[in-house]
Amino acid sequence: MVAKKDIDWGNLGFSYHVTDKRYVSMYQDGKWDDGALISDDKIVMSEDAGVLQYSQSVFEGLKAYETEDGHIVCFRPDLNAQRMYDSALRLEMPPFPVDRFVEAVKETVRANEAWVPPYGTGATLYIRPYMFGISPVIGVKPADDYMFRIFTTPVGPYFKGGAKPIVVRVSDFDRAAPRGTGHIKAGLNYAMSLHAIVDAHKEGFAENIYLDPATRTKLEETGGANILLVDQDNTLVIPASDSILPSITRRSIHYVAENYLGMKVVEREVLLSEVEKGEFKECGLCGTAAVISPIGKINDHGKEIEFSNGMEKMGPVMQKLYDTLTGIQMGRIEAPEGWIVRID
Ligand code: PLP
Ligand code: COI
Repeated sequence: MVAKKDIDWGNLGFSYHVTDKRYVSMYQDGKWDDGALISDDKIVMSEDAGVLQYSQSVFEGLKAYETEDGHIVCFRPDLNAQRMYDSALRLEMPPFPVDRFVEAVKETVRANEAWVPPYGTGATLYIRPYMFGISPVIGVKPADDYMFRIFTTPVGPYFKGGAKPIVVRVSDFDRAAPRGTGHIKAGLNYAMSLHAIVDAHKEGFAENIYLDPATRTKLEETGGANILLVDQDNTLVIPASDSILPSITRRSIHYVAENYLGMKVVEREVLLSEVEKGEFKECGLCGTAAVISPIGKINDHGKEIEFSNGMEKMGPVMQKLYDTLTGIQMGRIEAPEGWIVRID
């Protein structure tokens, strides 16, 4: 065990810290090189790089945890590898091989072991794989050369206040077009959400709920997390759409709810009008960064929809899901085969 960095782990927010090592691999002459860990956190590139001109970039987010018995683990990195593969194909980028992605994640976390927050602090090591077009392009076309990198940064809760319910608003902006790029993790999806999130924060909301862009009647997701709902019969209801990101946390919660908690789970289109009628008693956001963040209220243009948990704490169903999921991630509860990948 290496000595941990001297950090006030319990008070970390979701922000970037430069850690010791990052992984880099270059795609040139039609192939990925062997890749290596390096110390330099800066990147030098052409003023005309594909990423700078036409936003050719995709990324991922996953976490490393210290478990109760002192090991360092990652949660389902193979699914992030596959999603990044799919994201790359959609933006005409050469996909980084899935098995190499998983190995590179392990190497990067191992090289930054001193930055993995100690068990029980509530903090985790956030891992950010990303790749982008680095060679010059001036006509609108894919770059020839690409850089794949992974850095890590220790983080605390994504939303201030940790597990306290948040208030979100229904956004007038759209996040993703039908048949667009909402289902992949491309930087461009986040660039176009920045105005909406800055405006939401100005108005006192933690996030935006986006509606389906075709009809603006169905719930999609927020800028950085999928939505979970619990109906009056305690069924977990998950909004389905082709233009939301297939969250790994959400897919894991679906499995946990059915197989660990014996719950009924339905993935289907969810109308905003159903939510307004009070058909759901609990609501939350889920994602790697958000984990499960309870929603206290949704504000739809001044009309408030309140959930039964109120503004003080998570509802009982979200709490059970949260405890089981984080129990699996931190090694307190036995994980399904292949979910937990040991680093050390
Ligand atoms: N939806 C969006 C738009 C996201 O950015 C994220 C974060 O990765 C998620 C959902 C949650 O996905 P995951 O659980 O795989 O982190
Ligand atoms: C994540 O949960 O990993 C995300 O990418 C959400 C946000 C930080 C973009």
